[in-house]
Amino acid sequence: MINLKSKIYVAGHTGLVGSAILRKLKSKGYRNVIYRERKELDLKNQIKVYNFLKKHKPDFIFIAAAKVGGIHSNNTYKADFIFDNISIQSNLINSAYRNGIKDLIFLGSSCVYPRNCKQPIKESYLLTGALEKTNDAYAIAKIAGIKMCESYNHQYKTNYKCLMPTNTFGPNDNYDLLNCHFFPALIKKSHQLKLNNKKEIILWGNGRARREVIYVDDIADACIYFMKKKIKETVINIGTGKDYTIKEYLDKIIKQIIPHKKITIRYDSNKPNGTPRKVLDVSLAKKYGWKSKTNLNDAILKTYTYFLKKFK
Ligand SMILES: NC(=O)c1ccc[n+]([C@@H]2O[C@H](COP(=O)([O-])OP(=O)(O)OC[C@H]3O[C@@H](n4cnc5c(N)ncnc54)[C@H](OP(=O)(O)O)[C@@H]3O)[C@@H](O)[C@H]2O)c1
Repeated sequence: MINLKSKIYVAGHTGLVGSAILRKLKSKGYRNVIYRERKELDLKNQIKVYNFLKKHKPDFIFIAAAKVGGIHSNNTYKADFIFDNISIQSNLINSAYRNGIKDLIFLGSSCVYPRNCKQPIKESYLLTGALEKTNDAYAIAKIAGIKMCESYNHQYKTNYKCLMPTNTFGPNDNYDLLNCHFFPALIKKSHQLKLNNKKEIILWGNGRARREVIYVDDIADACIYFMKKKIKETVINIGTGKDYTIKEYLDKIIKQIIPHKKITIRYDSNKPNGTPRKVLDVSLAKKYGWKSKTNLNDAILKTYTYFLKKFK
């Protein structure tokens, strides 16, 4: 059972999710947390990963290291997405097993579910239909990670869990407009509007795609909660269970960042919409006693405050 003295390794501690897990562990008083920069430990290097885990023997691992990006990046760098993710997760999962580490959490993604599956999406819909084309390489890699956890649990009686977060945002997000996710892109575009005192904003697609988002501190909370929890299933969805259109998210962000501003939206139909609707069924997580806590408007304000600190 994880406790404040447990040795915990956070892989991907500089990223959006990994940094939130690290913050949360520290704030809760966990005092034996280890992490490494990419330049010290490239997780694509199988031997280095094996030796690192052999030397340090953590009791618990959070795998938040991955190659991650938005629709453009997923659709452009498919080879990197499939290779990097399969390498990182396979190296960590297999080396964990070979070093006797029985507990880990692997972060999957809501992108693994079929493009046209029924909504809200239950865990059981995995592998029941064709994937969204724009991120199929990433999704296949993530599915391999999930199946690897399931297979090790089945064959070796490990306790490897896969949390499947919906679109996540918060401090330490990527704001590179070409390669980032839609939510940080909306924050940055709204900020630019404010900065340049402009009125027009350009949205990719038609703004009608429906998405669910969650604040990253809630993901970190779920990671620690489920590391402690005894569960039967390997895969658990983590989200809010609520979805809005991209246009509705923009309205909410504008209201927080530039209240009373009248804006004009231009839709760039040359850019893809992605999956028409994506919202998770979070009843399994709820059954185990976990639900998201952060109010969306508060989360937008917190995120924008971090954004201003980082980019001013
Ligand atoms: N963001 C979302 O909306 C979202 C939604 C659902 C699921 N997830 C899942 O959550 C996990 C974390 O995502 P994120 O958004 O936090 O990603 P992120 O911000 O891009 O962070 C990725 C982390 O992985 C590290 N990393 C990547 N390649 C590495 C390598 N070869 N060696 C060592 N470290 C490496 C990065 O280190 P550097 O700082 O050196 O680059 C960074 O710390 C991923 O599994 C992702 O699929 C994210």
